[in-house]
Parts: sequence; structure tokens; C-alpha cells
Amino acid sequence: MSQDPAVSSRTDWWQTGVVYQIYPRSFADANGDGIGDLAGIAEHLDHLGGGDDALPVDAIWLSPIYPSPDFDFGYDVADYVGIDPRYGTLADFDRLVEAAHRRGLRVILDLVLNHTSHRHPWFEASRAGRDNPYADWYIWRDSPGRSRLGARRTPNNWRSYFGGSAWQWDEGRGQFYMHTFLPEQPDLNWRSPAVRAAVMDVVRTWLDRGVDGFRLDVFNTFYKDAALRSNPRRIGRRGRWSWQRHLFDRDQPDLPDALARIRNLVDSQPGRMTVGELFDNSMAKAAAYIEPKHLIFDWTFMSLRWSAAAFRDAIVARDAAFGPDRWPANVLSNHDQPRHASRFGGGLPVETVDARAKVAAALLLTLRGTPFLYYGEELGQRNLVIPNAESLDPPARRATWLSPWWNRDQARGPIAWSANRGGGFTRGTPWLPLSADFETRNVEGQAAHPGSVLSWYRRLLRLRREVPALQGGDQRLLEVGQLDVLAYVREAPAGKTDAMGASLVALNFGDAPATIQVPAAPSGVAWRPSLSTHLRPEAEAIRGSVTLAPLEALVAVGG
Ligand code: GLC
Ligand code: CA
Repeated sequence: MSQDPAVSSRTDWWQTGVVYQIYPRSFADANGDGIGDLAGIAEHLDHLGGGDDALPVDAIWLSPIYPSPDFDFGYDVADYVGIDPRYGTLADFDRLVEAAHRRGLRVILDLVLNHTSHRHPWFEASRAGRDNPYADWYIWRDSPGRSRLGARRTPNNWRSYFGGSAWQWDEGRGQFYMHTFLPEQPDLNWRSPAVRAAVMDVVRTWLDRGVDGFRLDVFNTFYKDAALRSNPRRIGRRGRWSWQRHLFDRDQPDLPDALARIRNLVDSQPGRMTVGELFDNSMAKAAAYIEPKHLIFDWTFMSLRWSAAAFRDAIVARDAAFGPDRWPANVLSNHDQPRHASRFGGGLPVETVDARAKVAAALLLTLRGTPFLYYGEELGQRNLVIPNAESLDPPARRATWLSPWWNRDQARGPIAWSANRGGGFTRGTPWLPLSADFETRNVEGQAAHPGSVLSWYRRLLRLRREVPALQGGDQRLLEVGQLDVLAYVREAPAGKTDAMGASLVALNFGDAPATIQVPAAPSGVAWRPSLSTHLRPEAEAIRGSVTLAPLEALVAVGG
């Protein structure tokens, strides 16, 4: 399928652009069954690309849209090259890609290649017997015998991340199979050449359909130790997963070669990229897997509290781990973690939470790296409040005191497009409730207000498009002498004196005004504020110092 020239001519978008994650179930429901779908996404593309009111982003990433029995809401795939009928058809998908490309938006698919659904025909064949072509497509092992109490021993001590043993007994085959996540998500055997070939076919199929890139789900678990050695024990936190050092169930020496093959295939077509979901929060590991056009999510900012100093320390640590050449992928929220408005503002007055959400947005969209937005964050959307006992999220339903789990439904609520019944999301009953505040927190309402979180995201994204230093510039953290202020300069890389210009970003995380010292703009002229969450004097020139209001985010340009 041919690409729109407006889209294919830019090959650096993976670095300069902004990606917007859509959780398809919760974005827009066109047929009224309460579940978002592809036609719904297509109807709302104007929110993301095209018109003047759009959030100018460069790509959308769709969480899985493949046929799935939904034990893990799409992350248990039953057919890698089809579309779940609840989301639509392949024809709907082609139409969506075409409509996105027409608006200059790229499309990234979520590839879940570590495991399939237990209902995938490959697994159904594999479990049917030991002598069919699929017999070794999964990780099967005999039981090494019985314990003194008569229980079947598992092949080793590996745990499932979602609770319980990683080994599930299958009566039919009389063997255990391995699952890093749910028993309904058996892990593929990447040591089988046939599995690797099948995976490459999946990648090729979607590239040929015009997809611009992939998010690789938990990619560093593809390979397990060939001898299936038990992991060494360690003292952990609450949660039995943390009581082991995960030496043998992920990050095996065979992985880089398999990754290189996928990456070469992706690189064979211009303008394509991947972003890997590292199943681990180590910056050093993230750094090891990064290459041009192949990003790795860095989870650092997901775990930070609301503190300029904490962010500053994290940025310094990451710069040290990544060095000057590895390009970061910045993210504050996704479908697995509490939404950041709630994380940073839980329990505070609505206005304070929104003000913090705006400061966070300024950080995400001006920091060096590719920003990934999570649908709804542009409204300052909060977590839903749903106790584990009422959850749909399977690991939350399995949670025990020893295997605790945060109910991810809370981060997956429908986005509201209007104050109408169903929030403009659905004319039926939404699969998860709308936010309690949807009548005031929705796209239509916020679009009409210049002071809204949405209007702030739009202004930031537009500025980012206009100022090359904010896209590709180097980053220099400033010593400003105020604990609550994070400030940095983005400018052309040292030695390069192109027309990139420079930008000064100053973020006041605190509740009191703060005066900071700022360096001279490279041009020798003063910094000119381009954007602020607060009113600033017209035609202001910033030299030497500037006073920030409480929770003010300021972006200035110079040079
Ligand atoms: C990734 C996904 C998560 C899913 C898991 C298993 O972590 O982000 O939602 O449950 O993989 O596929
Ligand atoms: Ca629907």
C-alpha cells in the first residue's frame, strides 16, 4: 500500500514527533455497543491531526486491536493479522490508516510477541499433542516428579508476573507450559525457528499494509534460559515476583540477534520505527537496547513523586546512563499505571491538580526525547475509582496479599467528547464508567476555554512544532538556586550553529512564587516568553532573572 507523500517524506519523525496512545476500547464507540472501535477512532481523528483545533501530534499508537478472548483485554492475541470484529474489519483498518496518513498522522501497532492467547490456533494445535508441527511452538516441560505431599513439582521456580507459578499443568499433553503473565497467555518458544519465521511474517504483513511502526510488548522476555535454570532468590518487597532475581526468565543473550532481525525488516521501509516496552525499570538496560529509530520506554518518570528535585535527579541519572547519542522516549501515563494527574495530585483541590497537570505537560513536551501522550491526559483526566473486588482487569481479580496488584481499569476509562449522555463516547452503556466529572471535563467543553488543560496541550504542541530546538535540541539543566524549580535550556547541539534557536523552560513545582537566575540567551538578546500558564506582561524581555508564579510553567525563546 502506498504512503501519502506528506507522511513518507519525513524520516526523522520518530525523534522529533509526538506519539499519542489510544486505548481503543475507550476512545470512541461508533456502533453503540459500549466498546470503542476503529470507526470511532476514524470519526475523531480531527482531534489529533488536521484542523486548527487539533492537538498536533505526529502518530497514534493503538493498543491491541486483534481478535482476542480478552483475558488481558487484547494483550492475549488469538490472530496476529486480523482485527477483532468488535473493533471492525481489515477494511475499517485500511480506511483508518488512510485517513490518518491524509492528516499527516502515522499509525503504530502494538505487537505482543512474547505470548499468544491460549485460544490462538497455534496453541490449540500445540496442546493437542507432542508430534504435530506446532508441538514445540510453546515452552512445554515434563513435571520432575511429585512433592512429599503429592503435588506435581514444576520444572523450576519461575513465577508469573500476574501471580502464582509461571507453570500451568495441561492434562491433555501431560506436561506443564510456561506463562510469564496469565495461564491464558502461554509464552511462545522463541528458540523454535518456525516461531521466529512466523513472527517475521506478522511484522511483514503489517508493514505491507502501511503501518509506520510497532510497539513491542515486553520484548525483553522473548527468550528464556535454554536450560530453564531457577532464578536465584533475594529479599524482596511485598509481592512474590520481587523475591527472585530475574536472571533466567528474561534478557537472554539470544535476544539481540532476534531484535536485530525485526529491526532490519522494519528499517527496510523508510520512515518506520519501533518502541520497546522494557519489562524492567532499569535505565541501564533501557540504554543497552536503544538504537536510532528504535526507542525504549524509560519508566523513570512513572514512579516519581511531585518534586522538581526528584525530576532533576532522574534527568541527571538518565543523561549519565544514556549518554549524548541515545534518544529517550518520555512517558508519564499509559494503560498499565495510574494516570499522572491522579498520581501527582491525588486528594488536592481540582484547580491544583489541573495546574500540576499543566506543568507536567510542559515538561513532557519540552524535554529532550520523543513524548508519548496517553489518551485523556490532554483533559487532565483522572483515574476512575474501582476497587479490586469489582475489577475487570484479570491480575487485579487474582490479587492476593502476597501478590498485590493495582487495578488497571482505573487508568482505562472512556474519554469524554462532550457533556451529553454517554459523554459522546457511546450511545450505549460504556464498558467502564465515564469519569464522575465528565460533564465538565470533556473535549468540547475544554476546547471552548483558553485556560483549560486541553488548550494548554494544544498551545504547547503547536509551539513544539514551530521551535526546532524543542524537537531536536540538546538539553542543559540550569542551576537556578530554587529547590522547587526545574529549568533547562534546549539549544542546537554544541558546535552546530544552525537556525535551531534556543528555548528556556522554567517549571515551578511549588506553591509559592520563585525567582530564578537565568543565563543569557545565545543571541545575546533577551528571552521572550512564548507560553506561560499564567498571564505575563506583554512584550516582556527576560534578562538575568525571572519570577515565576506558583505552579507556573514558562517556555521562552531566544536566539
Ligand atoms: C504489557 C502490557 C500490559 C499487558 C502485559 C502482558 O506490559 O502493557 O498491559 O498486560 O504486557 O501482555
Ligand atoms: Ca463499538
